[in-house]
Amino acid sequence: MTLTTSLFSLVEADLQLLAENLKTLVGARHPILYAAAEHLFGAGGKRVRPAIVLLISRATMPNQKITPRHRRLAEITEMIHTASLVHDDVVDESEVRRGVPTVHTRFGNRVAILAGDFLFAQSSWYLASLDNLEVVKLLSEVIMDLARGEIEQGLNRFETNLSLEAYQAKSYYKTASLIANSGKAAAILSETKAEIAEHLYQYGRHIGLAFQIVDDILDFTGSMETLGKPALSDLKSGNLTAPVLFALEEKPYLEVLIEREFAQEGDLEQAIAYIEESKGLERSRELAAGHARDAIKQLDVLPPSQEHQALVKLADYVLSRLY
Ligand code: IPE
Ligand code: IPE
Ligand code: MG
Ligand code: MG
Repeated sequence: MTLTTSLFSLVEADLQLLAENLKTLVGARHPILYAAAEHLFGAGGKRVRPAIVLLISRATMPNQKITPRHRRLAEITEMIHTASLVHDDVVDESEVRRGVPTVHTRFGNRVAILAGDFLFAQSSWYLASLDNLEVVKLLSEVIMDLARGEIEQGLNRFETNLSLEAYQAKSYYKTASLIANSGKAAAILSETKAEIAEHLYQYGRHIGLAFQIVDDILDFTGSMETLGKPALSDLKSGNLTAPVLFALEEKPYLEVLIEREFAQEGDLEQAIAYIEESKGLERSRELAAGHARDAIKQLDVLPPSQEHQALVKLADYVLSRLY
C-alpha cells in the first residue's frame, strides 16, 4: 500500500467510485475525446485534490452522510485539474505524465487542446448542475486563475528579477486556487458557517502553495521514475522557481547564465551545480514547511474527527514527498 492510499483510507471507497465515474462521465459525451481522456484518467494520478474535497466534506458533516453533490464536486475538481495538466503539457512540450506519454505526444496538439477544452467545458456543465451559485462562482474563478497563472509564468520566463512574492502569486493561480476554492466549496455544500468555510479556503491555499513548492524542488531532486514526468524541466524552459530564486541571492553568476538562456555549452549544467551548492533547496523546503504549518493551524475550527486528523496528516504527506 502506498502512502497516499493509507492516508486516504477514510475516503478510499469514494475515490474508487470517483475514478470509475470520471471515465464514464467523460466517455459518455464524445467518442473521439474519450480515447484521450480515458488515457489520462486510466493512468491515475495521486488524486490529492478530490481526497481533500471528500475529507473536508466528511469533516463538515459530522454524523451525517456526505451528499451526491459533495461527490460530484470532488469529480469536478479532478476534471479541472486534469484539463489544466493536458494544456500545461502542451505549453511545456512535456512528453510524459503519470508515467505514460502525454495526450499531445500520443494524439497531437490539436486533439490535446480540444481534449483540455472539452474537460473544462464539461466540468463547467457539471458545476452548473450543482445548482449552487456561490459554488459555481468559486470554481469558475479557479478556471480563470489557472489560465492567468500559465500566462504569468509564460511572460516571466528567464526573468531573473522575479520576486518570491510574484512566484508565490503565480503558484496561487496555477495550483493553490483550485485546492482552496474546492475545499471552501465543499464546506459551503455542507452549509457550514462562513467563518469555517474561510478557514478551509486558507487551509487549501497553504496546502496548495506547499504542494507547488515541493513539486518545484522535486523537479531538481527527482527522476522520471519517481515523478512519472520529466525532471529538470522548469529551469531548462526558464521557469524560475523557489530554489532558483533563493540561489540567485547567493550566486551572482547564475544570473548571467539564465539571462543568456543557457546559450553556451555547459551553461545549464553549471547553473544546476550552482543551485545544488547553494541554500536554495533547503530554503525552499523551509518555505514549504511554513505553509504546511499554516495550513494545519486553520483546522482548529473543525470538530475532532478522523477526517480532521487525516487533513492534518495530509500537510505532512505533502512535505514527505521530498524524502
Ligand atoms: C501536478 O499535480 C501539477 C502541480 C500542481 C504540481 P499532481 O502532482 O497532483 O499530479 P497528479 O494528479 O498526481 O498526476
Ligand atoms: C502546475 O505546475 C501545473 C498546473 C496547475 C497546470 P507545473 O507546471 O509545475 O506542473 P508539472 O510539474 O508539469 O506537473
Ligand atoms: Mg508543467
Ligand atoms: Mg512542476
